[in-house]
Amino acid sequence: MSSNQSFSNRDLSVLWHPCTQMKDHETFPIIPIKKGQGVWLEDFDGNRYLDAISSWWVNLFGHANPTINAALKDQLDTLEHVIFAGFSHEPGVALAEKLVRITPERLSRCFYADNGSSAVEVALKMSFHYWRNLGQAQKTKFITLENSYHGETLGALAVGNVPLYKETYAPLLMDVITVPGPDCYNREPGESWADYSSRRFTLMEQTLQQHSDTVCAVIVEPLVQCAGNMRMYDPVYLQLLRAACDKYDVHLIADEIAVGFGRTGTLFACEQAAISPDFMCLSKGLTGGYLPLSAVLTTDRVYRAFYADYQSLTAFLHSHSYTANALACRAALATLDIFDQDNVIEKNRSLAEIIAKAAMRFHDHPHVAEVRQTGMILAIELVKNKHTREPYPWQERRGLKVYQYALAKGVLLRPLGNVIYFMPPYVVSEQQLLLIAEVAWQGIQHAVED
Ligand SMILES: Cc1ncc(COP(=O)(O)O)c(C=O)c1O
Repeated sequence: MSSNQSFSNRDLSVLWHPCTQMKDHETFPIIPIKKGQGVWLEDFDGNRYLDAISSWWVNLFGHANPTINAALKDQLDTLEHVIFAGFSHEPGVALAEKLVRITPERLSRCFYADNGSSAVEVALKMSFHYWRNLGQAQKTKFITLENSYHGETLGALAVGNVPLYKETYAPLLMDVITVPGPDCYNREPGESWADYSSRRFTLMEQTLQQHSDTVCAVIVEPLVQCAGNMRMYDPVYLQLLRAACDKYDVHLIADEIAVGFGRTGTLFACEQAAISPDFMCLSKGLTGGYLPLSAVLTTDRVYRAFYADYQSLTAFLHSHSYTANALACRAALATLDIFDQDNVIEKNRSLAEIIAKAAMRFHDHPHVAEVRQTGMILAIELVKNKHTREPYPWQERRGLKVYQYALAKGVLLRPLGNVIYFMPPYVVSEQQLLLIAEVAWQGIQHAVED
């Protein structure tokens, strides 16, 4: 029995893995990873896999990054963690100072949580509670976009809209108002992204006009709906949304958990629309993919609505045990140091061009309906019929075939349904990008064979 097999047997006898039908592992082995270095992961049998999806979009500067490793080793000998209510520490404060400095202008307060979904819960609760503190208790609803995803805890799931994750739990979820989205896959032939996204905004405007009295906030994933099959839209939608939220007195929550920290070509996606939300949720790349941490940035105006004598009972009494974990904050500081020192956003521009070039050939593939890209995210939409865009039946699991093929060739791609995407760590080389594209091409050929 190989080392991989014996490790897998131990794993499968006690573990239940995330987002997985465990029965699949009767026929498809789990991959035990022994170590990581740069863009590479290595299993117990010595096979290597190029991490083309940044380990679920969290890893920015490679596995075992020397800068982050050194910072964490130092932090380990100083302070690993302390209760963050009534207590504070250097990495927690330094990171908040930094986040306030680098996020859009009006964001001046940082509240920590410990994963993306929790950050979304915090933003939703804070927005609701803000209006309540202001005497507007009738504001209880949230507006969300079709095809959005904000996490899996019940509040975050409620404001998401991907049926695969949501439908089963529908009876448990709060009611939300769902507006048709700006996703440019659906634009008319020849229509520009900007024209389509603006046109779709009229539906949001109408909804805001009709419901603003009872709405706390609109929540969006700026520019790319990642878990919603990497669907993309134009920054003009965010500009129009910001103006409308101001007009109708409704908060704007920007969930930059997946798109923040350079993924879309700017440090934050909101920058491309030159807007500042009322709440910005950050996680994933925040710690360079090392440790779970999230932050919700908000405005002074929101902060002041909670600030009063204790007896007024307006405080935000929300907490997580690992709030502002010192190790995680230190990893985040080291990650942001790399942005400062290595001219990352500029370098990513060249990398994005290389990704685009590597994926050129997919445009003409007879089973590819669209190749779309925003910065360091490129997605390839596989369909049964290129002309009608009829999708493959989901039961055929074509994307899974690409996944399995690519793993056998040493590349970790993890398609979303039938959408194959590249979202590599920023330390990926041109040669490695060409390898990812070549393996994806072969994987698609294999997946569409019958
Ligand atoms: C946009 C967005 N929001 C929230 C989340 C949830 O984050 P987490 O998985 O850390 O709870 C995700 C995760 O993929 C996400 O993509």
